[in-house]
Amino acid sequence: MNAVDIITKKRDGGVLSETEIRHMVMGYTQGTLPDYQMAAFLMAVYFKGMNRQETICLTSLMKHSGDIVDLGGIKGIKVDKHSTGGVGDKTTLIVGPIAAVCGVPVAKMSGRGLGFTGGTVDKLESIPGYQTSMAAEDFMNQVNGTGIAVIGQTGHIAPADKKIYALRDVTGTVENLSLITSSIMSKKLASGSDAILLDVKCGSGAFMKNLQDAERLAELMVEIGNADGKKTMAVITDMEQPLGCAVGNALEVQEAIAVLKNQGPSDITELSVCLAGMMIFLGEKAVSVEEGIEKAKAALADGSALEKFRALVDGQGGNPGITEDPGLMPQSSLCIEVRAEQTGYVRAVDAMKIGLASQHTGAGRQRKEDAVDLAAGLVLCKKTGDAVQAGDVLCWVYGNDAEKTRLAAEEVKPAVAIGAARPEKPQLIKKIIK
Ligand code: URA
Repeated sequence: MNAVDIITKKRDGGVLSETEIRHMVMGYTQGTLPDYQMAAFLMAVYFKGMNRQETICLTSLMKHSGDIVDLGGIKGIKVDKHSTGGVGDKTTLIVGPIAAVCGVPVAKMSGRGLGFTGGTVDKLESIPGYQTSMAAEDFMNQVNGTGIAVIGQTGHIAPADKKIYALRDVTGTVENLSLITSSIMSKKLASGSDAILLDVKCGSGAFMKNLQDAERLAELMVEIGNADGKKTMAVITDMEQPLGCAVGNALEVQEAIAVLKNQGPSDITELSVCLAGMMIFLGEKAVSVEEGIEKAKAALADGSALEKFRALVDGQGGNPGITEDPGLMPQSSLCIEVRAEQTGYVRAVDAMKIGLASQHTGAGRQRKEDAVDLAAGLVLCKKTGDAVQAGDVLCWVYGNDAEKTRLAAEEVKPAVAIGAARPEKPQLIKKIIK
């Protein structure tokens, strides 16, 4: 078999066999297929697409390229939650403790941020002392004892995805339905959970820019998850504007704590309760999503979810005192206020531009190996639909590097559009797919 024949077949719109897809995936993972051939193949897939069968086959090959985690040592139905990536998305820090309080074991392996999107592991590392890596036995013991553990992705899960994603990232081949589906689902199916909840983001700050594309992605991922024997559901949610107000690692942890105290922004609170309700349903601790949502609201209202968050932090070596004293978290030396230049209503807060501005404060990384400034980022004071007066603060931009912070503040200005007419508040939760 010849890689050039496979590339040209896909370039000309052909349908690939399992053997052909295997040749490309295994060859690349094992290092016998060079970057330039894989890049050409990915570009051919980007333009010509893959059918359902090819996508299922690609997902399975990527899943089996590495270890399949065995979480059998953890009692109960393990439910994994995954977001397709967005700006200001700190829901794992809220939803995990709520689900754990309601009896769903949370054994979560999370990723780092890349580009304009954030990652849970970076956020957790802003908590002093928190260990994001753990021996497998300690991980299982923590979940069995505390009900929740959140660590970075370990070992050798879907190494094909790791390599292919890194190449997609630098060859303009990320935004393709089949490639995104196989990338996400190969990792999720190898991660050992019994059920999967997918938060598919839709809008300017997401890979899927419109509802139709988000629906196709969600439906395909749900089908693949269920076909693999894992009960899978998806929810399509808005990512036209950032979720909540805080974007940046320590800043997002502080906002998550505010939500756990019932003092957070309404959008992230609403989404967290919905996701937790779905997890509680998937974990069979509620007979419906609606009942799960009621249980989630109760866990927020009575403070038990906050207590569970403190237990999670404590169990992983972090300082639970951060819930009462935010000063224990990394602090920025600089803060620039971005003010409105006109009176009216916020018509849009472009999630992608805000994510990029936050990245440029130092809060995000351009390349995998870059260090991040855990204190840097920004906090929005106004969101879409809010009234503003000229001179009002729209956003606080935090950092430790004067030039980076100044440039990021410049980027925030055009990201917040103000007009005379009051726009509709965007619908946050667009659709649930079972
Ligand atoms: N998240 C992933 O893990 N992979 C993609 O391709 C896109 C988002």
